[in-house]
Amino acid sequence: MTWTSGTGNRPTDCSEQLRGAAMFQLHSFSRIFMPRLSGKTALVTGAASGIGAAIAKAFADEAAQVIVTDIDVEGGQAVADDISGTFVRLDVANEADWTAVGERFPALDVLVNNAGITGFEGVPAAHDPEHAQLADWRAVHAVNLDGTFLGCRYAIRAMRAKGSGSIINISSRSGLVGIPMAAAYASSKAAVRNHTKTVALYCAGQGLNIRCNSIHPAAVMTPMWEPMLGDGPDRGAREAAMVADTPMRRFGRAEEVAALAVLLASDEAAYMTGAELTIDGGTLAGSAATPGN
Ligand SMILES: NC(=O)c1ccc[n+]([C@@H]2O[C@H](COP(=O)([O-])OP(=O)(O)OC[C@H]3O[C@@H](n4cnc5c(N)ncnc54)[C@H](O)[C@@H]3O)[C@@H](O)[C@H]2O)c1
Repeated sequence: MTWTSGTGNRPTDCSEQLRGAAMFQLHSFSRIFMPRLSGKTALVTGAASGIGAAIAKAFADEAAQVIVTDIDVEGGQAVADDISGTFVRLDVANEADWTAVGERFPALDVLVNNAGITGFEGVPAAHDPEHAQLADWRAVHAVNLDGTFLGCRYAIRAMRAKGSGSIINISSRSGLVGIPMAAAYASSKAAVRNHTKTVALYCAGQGLNIRCNSIHPAAVMTPMWEPMLGDGPDRGAREAAMVADTPMRRFGRAEEVAALAVLLASDEAAYMTGAELTIDGGTLAGSAATPGN
């Protein structure tokens, strides 16, 4: 049987039409149901809690093989068990730990350099540029910046054989503006932003399809905020005060950051490298001086 196609007068075989329709349905089906990270192996640092745990779970939901890493062994193992992933203890500031990871996982598709500290986790200490101690400054940079440098170096080597991959560095809104009371944190996150672009250009220059992008969250409700919010009856008021200047007037959720990480990890982001993506409820879209505020 033949009929005339709708776009011209060429007689078309019925089976060709059916094949076309089937291909279209298959394409639509795969767009809806195919996991976006199928066949990829991803390593996430600081994945025992907060944003890292949400990213690990979102990656597993998209069928990635996930290597969950953290210095928190109990929390990291629990996340790995939950998503049928593999847990490895990795202190991102420790070069020997990265060497061991490289020996155990010589090939990788996706790395998320997520582990980070503010400096406010332990004994209270000043972090403004006038009173901060050098040791505290260095401790924050060791995790946030050295950790990201070591992670990127490992990932480039582990992705080189295949010639492709995605490195995602979790920076911060604090890497884009000054933060008077968290100088080391802001400095380290700004350096992460810039190192991301260096890595992106280096890989492209080497002819490698290894992409490197940074995510800049702000006010995402995770355990990182606990030292700043504290307990007690006025916690709710403190939470509200923290986001009073956020245009969307709420904290972000770790899952919302994870959704962005899935995009960058996937082949949908094939033309994105050296980019910085803010996810901050609109905070950096304007300023207190924006007309109309
Ligand atoms: N929550 C926010 O509002 C926010 C905003 C901007 C950026 N970020 C960034 O997002 C990332 C995740 O933060 P979060 O809010 O989920 O915090 P979190 O405290 O819930 O999680 C951080 C994780 O990093 C781990 N970690 C700390 N030091 C480590 C080390 N040396 N090696 C390996 N793991 C280590 C911790 O054990 C923890 O599991 C950080 O880089 C943070 O700077 C968070």
